[in-house]
Amino acid sequence: MSASPRSAAGATNLLRGKRVLVTGVLTPKSIAFAIASACQDAGAQVVLTSFGRAMSLTRRSAQRMAPAPEVLEMDATDVEQVRAVAGQVRDSWGGLDAVVHAIGFAPEDCLGGGFLDAPWASVSTAFHVSSYSLRTLAAEFVPLMPETGGAIVSLTFDASVAWPLYDWMGPAKAALESITRYLARDLGHRHVRVNSLAAGPLETIAAKSIPGFDTLKTSWQEQAPLGWDSADAAPVADACVFLLSDLARGVTGEVLHVDGGFHSQGAPSAALTAGARA
Ligand SMILES: NC(=O)c1ccc[n+]([C@@H]2O[C@H](COP(=O)([O-])OP(=O)(O)OC[C@H]3O[C@@H](n4cnc5c(N)ncnc54)[C@H](O)[C@@H]3O)[C@@H](O)[C@H]2O)c1
Repeated sequence: MSASPRSAAGATNLLRGKRVLVTGVLTPKSIAFAIASACQDAGAQVVLTSFGRAMSLTRRSAQRMAPAPEVLEMDATDVEQVRAVAGQVRDSWGGLDAVVHAIGFAPEDCLGGGFLDAPWASVSTAFHVSSYSLRTLAAEFVPLMPETGGAIVSLTFDASVAWPLYDWMGPAKAALESITRYLARDLGHRHVRVNSLAAGPLETIAAKSIPGFDTLKTSWQEQAPLGWDSADAAPVADACVFLLSDLARGVTGEVLHVDGGFHSQGAPSAALTAGARA
């Protein structure tokens, strides 16, 4: 059973034969849950990772996928754990074709309006978990990828502008997007593609910890030309399937917006605002 019934990936078989490691599944509302389900629907074998107290929640979510994927323990800030998971994947699959980085965290004092007050200890945690971990995953998992190449996709929230209350997660996402480009530079010769998806606001556990999330949701309804359903991660999952697939073989170092077109508009247009009111 898939919890993302609106995913269009099922009909495609785009990932047939691919082995995909997906981080960041916490609940069925996690963006990574929609991605993992869409990858399975598109023919991939999937393994999940989680960590600490989240493990039991992730295992419960995995039971809602068919087949239920294995869940391995991996704190993305713990290189030894990441290395151990790489060893487990090598033992069971012999290699890996793709990695999805769906990991984000910032301590409370990094969000919600105290930008000038947040201490470095908190900011460095936000960067370590949300940005630098992409480099850690690349360093440990790329050696498992075949000579023909592989793909890494991460999730960002458009870091080219400042947002209300998002505070230090903004610079952490800017770093993630930049790391994406540098990894693309250094891994291109291995035919490993590294891209990021800039999703619109989606109702997940991570989103609940962001003060002002409802303001973002409302802005999206007023400004996204295609509209935006913040309860539906399937459009993001489908774009991820594309980026992981051979159809995207010429795409790397890219930040692809899956946001209903919000980023392309400078302000809400009268037509959209009227639509949102209707
Ligand atoms: N929800 C949104 O509106 C939105 C929009 C754009 C981008 N994103 C990004 O999407 C990604 C997934 O978030 P989500 O919204 O699905 O929320 P979520 O809460 O479901 O997922 C966040 C995940 O990060 C994991 N995580 C945190 N610290 C970790 C660590 N040290 N090691 C390994 N995993 C760790 C958590 O266990 C959780 O599974 C995040 O990078 C988030 O910033 C979210």
